[in-house]
Amino acid sequence: MHASIVLFGPPGAGKGTQAGRISEITGKPQVSTGDMLRQAVSEGTDLGIKAQSYMENGLLVPDDLIIGLIMDRMSKNDAKDGVLFDGFPRTINQAEALSSIVEISSVICIEVPDREIVDRIVGRRMDPETGEIYHISFKPAPKSIQSRLIQRKDDNEETVLQRLSAYHEQTSPLASWYDEKELLTRINGNSSIEEVGNDIAEYLLNL
Ligand code: AP5
Repeated sequence: MHASIVLFGPPGAGKGTQAGRISEITGKPQVSTGDMLRQAVSEGTDLGIKAQSYMENGLLVPDDLIIGLIMDRMSKNDAKDGVLFDGFPRTINQAEALSSIVEISSVICIEVPDREIVDRIVGRRMDPETGEIYHISFKPAPKSIQSRLIQRKDDNEETVLQRLSAYHEQTSPLASWYDEKELLTRINGNSSIEEVGNDIAEYLLNL
């Protein structure tokens, strides 16, 4: 299967948490615009300098910057059999640009109610060495590595509310856009990490 898959959902839905398992099942590399942007910010590239204040304020980075980033990523050799997009596209403009360069076989939408999102995001911790995502209550890290965990700068309550509002205004309309194209599959993201992963795996294995 050469087409790409889109992992879609609100901030904190569990896209990054589930991406590894989906990549293992499908063999498609994860392409996370959030991770690529954070790397650009930490390296101080032109893109990083332009994107930083949008990200810190919970706003979407402008489409032209994101589309340029994706065009560049899709020209790499490991993308030729399709990829797993995580956090992209996030606007109709981005989805239209994507459909002109890549075939999409399915869009997996992880649904989680807003009331669960703030706790998930504020309690999230990342391991900078392995990239593993933890949560102080829902997925605690082993004691031996707890001192090296970091918290994302945009993982505070105020910015989460802004990210949720950007999601509802600019990104959630994409669900019906993909549904009309019969590409959207909804997964209940409001259960345990393992159950969500099992539901996604079952869907993928029956494709
Ligand atoms: P990005 O990094 O993509 O952030 P996001 O979409 O806000 O998504 P998150 O990474 O916050 O959530 P996730 O769904 O991956 O959840 P996770 O698995 O970590 O984007 C950051 C910023 O970059 C944006 O605000 C924007 O500025 C910019 N940007 C990026 N892409 C862009 C684009 N295409 N266009 C424009 N701008 C763009 O899980 C969250 C927590 O919950 C973890 O602690 C986890 O352990 C826990 N958890 C996960 N699943 C469960 C479960 N089932 N039960 C309990 N806890 C769970």
